[in-house]
Amino acid sequence: MTEANVRMRAGRTAGAPPAHSDPNSEGAALAATLDETMGALDSLEARLVAVADAIPGRITFSTSLGLEDQAVLHAIARTGRAFDVFTLDTGRHFPETLETLEASELRYAPLKIRVVFPDAQDVELLVARDGIMGFRQSIEARKACCDVRKVRPLNKALAGAAGWITGLRRDQSAVRAHVPFASWDEEHQLVKLNPIADWSLEQLEAYIADNSIPVNPLHARGFPSIGCQPCTRAIRPGEDIRAGRWWWENEDGKECGLHNRPKPKEAHT
Ligand code: ADX
Ligand code: SF4
Repeated sequence: MTEANVRMRAGRTAGAPPAHSDPNSEGAALAATLDETMGALDSLEARLVAVADAIPGRITFSTSLGLEDQAVLHAIARTGRAFDVFTLDTGRHFPETLETLEASELRYAPLKIRVVFPDAQDVELLVARDGIMGFRQSIEARKACCDVRKVRPLNKALAGAAGWITGLRRDQSAVRAHVPFASWDEEHQLVKLNPIADWSLEQLEAYIADNSIPVNPLHARGFPSIGCQPCTRAIRPGEDIRAGRWWWENEDGKECGLHNRPKPKEAHT
């Protein structure tokens, strides 16, 4: 059992949990309640406070330092609650992304963004096998690079957390159309939270402008979605907002493995 589940049980009842207690169903019930209630809260700050109140244990926020995550970071800072914030430094980021990290820490001090790196030996083995630009060879090689530089470090960063906040939005892509506000993440044994799942791009941009939130300067140069430098290009007018990510691949497979594909609600049992 994970540390998160121990805490979840401890926060639920005084004394020993009943013998039939199942961390997966307890977590799923907590997630279902949050999923039903979060949407009715009109401000992002109120949604985050509700999350902090409902989930005992460490609640972590993964930020890519993109537009969505800068909005969530701002709201987190405003709540004054103790969220754990981290970013995955893949080693292949744009310099502008790292500048955004520094600008954010300056703006939201004393809030700190924990920087999580891939395992050095894993990267060395990957590069020895596939080459420094190996991710261009095939989709398998691209996924292997994302696995070493993103997915494994993500798993390390999430270990022991009880909640995981992301900046996923439903209208980012067809694949994300069913992103819930909250769901039980069985793989990581925590409640996954997407507090701006229902926000439109216009709403997001208005929140950023109204609060003068620092953003990656690349957004103004045609990059609505920013990942690693070799795998991200600017989009052309009229293109989908994720068209610049892994642009040589089919729309269907264009996820790096950080997020499982959310299904329509009816499919959840
Ligand atoms: S990705 O899967 O295509 O890379 P995207 O850039 O849209 O994802 O970001 C979606 C969410 O994934 C972000 O809101 C953030 O929670 C998480 N995420 C993506 N990249 C990173 C990163 N480098 N570090 C931490 N979290 C990230
Ligand atoms: Fe590697 Fe590209 Fe994935 Fe970054 S986005 S981890 S460079 S394959």
